[in-house]
Amino acid sequence: MAHSELKSSTYDYENVAIEFDDGIAWVSLNRPEKRNAMSPALNAEMVDVLRRLEVDERCGVLVLTGAGEAFSAGMDLKEYFRKMEGASRPEVLATKRDAYQWQWRHLKYFFKPTIAMVNGWCFGGAFTPLVSCDLSLAAEEATFGLSEINWGIVPGGNVMKAVASKMRQSDGLYYVMTGEVFDGRKAAEMGLVNEAVPLAELRTRTEELARRLLKINPVLLHGAKECYHGVANLDWHSAEDYNNAKVEQAILHDAECGMQKGLDQFLEKKSFRPGLGGYDRGDG
Ligand code: ACO
Repeated sequence: MAHSELKSSTYDYENVAIEFDDGIAWVSLNRPEKRNAMSPALNAEMVDVLRRLEVDERCGVLVLTGAGEAFSAGMDLKEYFRKMEGASRPEVLATKRDAYQWQWRHLKYFFKPTIAMVNGWCFGGAFTPLVSCDLSLAAEEATFGLSEINWGIVPGGNVMKAVASKMRQSDGLYYVMTGEVFDGRKAAEMGLVNEAVPLAELRTRTEELARRLLKINPVLLHGAKECYHGVANLDWHSAEDYNNAKVEQAILHDAECGMQKGLDQFLEKKSFRPGLGGYDRGDG
C-alpha cells in the first residue's frame, strides 16, 4: 500500500483502539479482559497502526497506553508461547518479527514523539514498548514486574536490552532475578519512567506533556531523537561527525527555518530568551 493510501482510511482494529484529539493519537492496547497481553494478532495490528500513524497528520504525538486496568501483562502466554509450540519455523519467525518490529524498532525510531502512559499492570514483554517510547509517565499505583523467571524463562527478545539500557545494573538484575514487582513511584525513582503521578491525574498530566511537545518544531524533535539514538554506540569521533551531519540535515529540511527565527528573535528583536523557552514559531 502506498503511503498516500495509508493516510485516509479509518482505524478499525480488534485489539487496538485509536482516538485522535487535536494532534494527539491515543493508542490503546485493547484486550482489557486479557490485561492487554500482546498476542500475535495484536502485534500484527500494531505493525499496521504504527505504519499508518507515522504518515497521518492527525498524529503529532503518539501516546501508547492500555485499555482497562493494565498497560500490558506482557506477551500472551497462551497465544504467543503455547500456540507457537506446534507452529512451523517460518510461522514462528514471522510471528516474532511482528512483535519485535513494532515493540522496539518502529516505536523507537518513530518519526514523531512518543509517550508511554503506564496506567496499570506492566509485565515482561511490555517493558520493550515502554522503553522504546521517548518519554514515559506511570500511575503511582501501576505494578511493574519482570515475571519471566516466575514462569520458567529468562527474559527474551529485547526485554533484557530494555532493562539494561534503562535501569542500573543493581536494580535491573534484582528485578530480573527475583521476579518481584514494584510500583510506579519506584519505577520513576529508578529512572525506568520519567515521572509517576496518581492514576487519577495520569491522563491530564500526559496530555499536558503531549501538548507541550506539539508546540515544538517537529523537524527538530525528530532530529533530536535520531541524534540521541544514533550517537549511543559510536565512538566520539564518529558521533561528532554523525551528529553534525544530522544537525545540518535538520536545518535543510526545516521549512519553518527555526534556527533563523530563533536567532532573529533573540539577537535583533529581543523578544525571547532561548534559555527560558522556545522561539515564536508563528513569527514571519
Ligand atoms: N498472557 C495470556 N493471558 C493473560 C496474560 C498473559 N500475559 N495475563 C493475563 N492473562 C489473562 C488471564 O489468563 C485471564 O484470562 P481468563 O479470564 O481467560 O482466565 C485474564 O487475562 C485475566 O487475568 P487474571 O490473572 O484473572 O487478572 P488479575 O487482574 O487477577 O491479574 C495479572 C493480573 C497480575 C497481570 C495476572 O494476569 C498475571 O500475572 N498475568 C501474567 C503476567 C506475566 O507474567 N506476563 C508475562 C511476562 S513475560 C513475557 O512477556 C515474555
